[in-house]
Parts: sequence; C-alpha cells; structure tokens
Amino acid sequence: MNANSRAGMHTSNPDTQALREAIFEYTRERMSYDPAPLDAPLTLEELQKLAPNTVNEDGLGGKQALKVFAEVLAPACLSTDHPGYLSFIPTAPTEAATLFDLVVSASSIYGGSWMEGAGAVFAENEVLAWLAREAGLPETAGGVFVQGGTLGNLSALVAARHAAKAKRIAAGLALPASWKFICSVEAHSSLKAAASVMDVEIVKAEVDQDGRLTGPAVQRALDAAGDGVFAIVATAGTTNFGIVDRIREVGEVARSAGIWFHVDGAYGLAALLAPKTRALFDGTELADSFIVDPHKWLFAPFDACALIYRDPSLAKAAHTQHGEYLDTLTESGDWNPSDYAYNLTRRVRGLPLWFSLATHGVAAYREAIEENIDLAHRIAHEIRRRPQLSLVREPELSVVVFEHEGWTVDDYKRWSDHLLETGKGLVVPSSHHGKPNTRFAIVNPQTSYELLVELLDSMETI
Ligand SMILES: Cc1ncc(COP(=O)(O)O)c(C=O)c1O
Repeated sequence: MNANSRAGMHTSNPDTQALREAIFEYTRERMSYDPAPLDAPLTLEELQKLAPNTVNEDGLGGKQALKVFAEVLAPACLSTDHPGYLSFIPTAPTEAATLFDLVVSASSIYGGSWMEGAGAVFAENEVLAWLAREAGLPETAGGVFVQGGTLGNLSALVAARHAAKAKRIAAGLALPASWKFICSVEAHSSLKAAASVMDVEIVKAEVDQDGRLTGPAVQRALDAAGDGVFAIVATAGTTNFGIVDRIREVGEVARSAGIWFHVDGAYGLAALLAPKTRALFDGTELADSFIVDPHKWLFAPFDACALIYRDPSLAKAAHTQHGEYLDTLTESGDWNPSDYAYNLTRRVRGLPLWFSLATHGVAAYREAIEENIDLAHRIAHEIRRRPQLSLVREPELSVVVFEHEGWTVDDYKRWSDHLLETGKGLVVPSSHHGKPNTRFAIVNPQTSYELLVELLDSMETI
C-alpha cells in the first residue's frame, strides 16, 4: 500500500508512518537552526522550472513532495523569524509556541463553537481574559482570535456600526446618509480596506508634530464630520514609527460623544506588558474594542489577532451566523468564538500563545518585550552618534526609522539587496513625506545589538 494511494491516505500504515517520521525530522532540523537561513524569493519562472507539475493525477509520493518543499520551495521563502529580518513587522515565535502549532495541526479541533472545541476555546479565552485585564477592561470583556489585524479591525468596526444602527433604530431616529469612522492620517491601511468593504467613509484626523492623534484633533474631526460617525479609532503603535496616540484623550472624546472607541494595537499594544512603556497605553481601559496581534509582538506563529470587546453581546448581535444546521450551536447559549467576528469555521489559533504563556509565564513576556524596546533605544543612540546617519524620529516602542545622508531610494535598495543576497538581513527602503529612509522593526529577542551595528557598518562599505 502506498501513502499516495487512495487506500492508504487516511490510515496509519508503514508508508504514512515513515512520512510522519520524515516530517518530524524536517521540523526538528528547521527548529534546530540558530538562526535559520534567511533565504530569498525566486521568480515565478524559476519556480516553475525547479518544481514543475507537482499537482497531478498520480501524486509524487510524500517523500518526493517533501524533497521538493525542502530543496526548492522552503528556500524560496524568507525566514521571518531570522534575527536580521527587520522590515514590515517580523515575527518571532517562541519554541514552545511553534511546537504547539504542530499539536494544533495534528488535533483537528474545530474552534468555532464551545460544543466542538470546549477545552481549546476555554484556553484561548483564558488568554483573551488576561489581555483584557492587562488593558483594564471589565471581567465581562471577551472576544476571539481571528486571522490577523486586518480582519480584527474590520470585525470590530462592523460590530460598532451594527450597535450604532441598532441604537438609532431603537430611539426612532433616522439613519445617516452615510456612516463614518474617525482615525488618524497615520492609521494602518487595513482601516481603509475596512471602510471600503463596509462602504463607509473615513474621516482623517490630523496628528500633532510627534505623529500622534490627540483629543482636540479628534474633537475637531468630529465637529467637522457631521452626522453618522459610528467609531473613533486610536492606534496604539503605528506600523511606520511605533507611535502611540493619546489614547485617553481620544477615548474621552469618544465617550462623551457616545461613540464606539476602538484601539488598533495590532503591533504596539504588546508593549502594554512592559513596565517601561505601560503608561503610554493609559486610557486603553476606555476602549469598546481593541486588537493586538500575537503573530507580531507576542511571540506566536502566524496567524493570530486577539480581538476583544468590552461588551461581547454587541459583537454577537452583529456577527452570529444563523442557519438551520447551526441552530443547535446558536441556541445553546454557549460561548461560540464564531459569534464574535466575521468568521465561522476557525482554527484554534490562540492555542500556541496559550501554551507558550502557560509554559513560560507572563513575566518572561514582559521582559522580552522590554528588551526589544531597550535595544531599539540603544541602536537609536548609535545612529545619533554617526554623522552620516540621522533618526527620522526618536523611537517610542521598537521601530527605529533613520536616514543616510545623501542616499536616494536606489542607494537604500542597493544596500537592501546586498543584505538579502548575503543572508544578513531584510531591511527594505521606506519613506516619510516622500523622503527615502529605512527602518528596523525589532520584535525578535534573537536580534542583537552587534548584528544591528554590523548592518549599519555595511552602509559605508556598499
Ligand atoms: C497598526 C496595524 N494595524 C493593523 C495591521 C494589520 O494586521 P495584519 O497584517 O495581521 O492583517 C497592522 C499590520 O502591520 C498594523 O501594524
């Protein structure tokens, strides 16, 4: 019997057992690298040539398919957990979290309902309750782990609009000609995407000279917006610079206007755990909803966004799907994670974080996040010291944005290509107000000061 034959593919037999061992061995090797090679993408044509016809009627057999993955496909994917991977927002899962992702994969747990996944949903909820407590939300807060911050922001805003609409209808008021939400000009692109999907308008509020959304700026935007504002969004750590809006001020404007207050903390809200930066997040307790992505700075593998509501019943009213075959779940009164976001079937993607937290404890997380922040400040100091380099802004969390005197986009690109070619790191060009720069986004405890200095040095020799 072959593992790739119809008869053997669902059973434990010598072929599938051998494949299991080969997969474990591959995983063992990938996890034993310190660090894993950075690797680099190939072109479509190169991949078509190197890995042709892998999906065919007869199958390659597991051994051959794994060989194609190990020798062609995997090396054509960047290792986002490499300590020199410093662009976008990297990822840095703990060993425990990565290992437990394997367990989740092997366990066939349906994470949409309590009936099907009670034990796993309970553990995910323990993590969500802890995050809600850290943020200062009441005991009754709750939510769900969704795929990413984009979906988390969308789901929160859909709940916000649903609540605003229900309130108007209950009060016998007319619905607005158009619904709107307010966020800063520095807010993440996922909010624009959410507005487009929801067919609502965005009212952009100006930021202060530090790039922060403030209470007065939100008040001005609100006064100018007219009817139909259903949410105000603050960003707890912008993607470009790691800047935290004046959360309390913004939240107080939202509160006094009776408007839903959402905090997008996809990247930065993790720094709430670090004693040194905790005060920046003052006012998060006013949030009606917030998100934070474990796959960014809570050391979990892709993909997970923790989405939490002050009053989960408002999210449930917006998101529960009704269908005859689902009645047994929706009428049970149980806590069904599917009810709290734009999703139904779901992986229990919060479990790797739960396992890692249960293994190491919260204190280890506080320490690791704080070390990243310290490193950002240390390397910022080094950048300030070098006459040919300058900081675009003082780092607040763990993003350091800087310029090299006289460099054009092409210079940054040449340097970036060189780093990738030599496997040292991924540091792509960026820009601010049209002026080119580059940035280190530090979320990996394996990223060292020495490596960052080496990368800075290499700017002078390229
Ligand atoms: C502030 C902020 N919000 C939302 C997102 C979107 O998150 P995701 O990429 O997980 O969809 C990001 C991603 O970088 C982000 O930095």
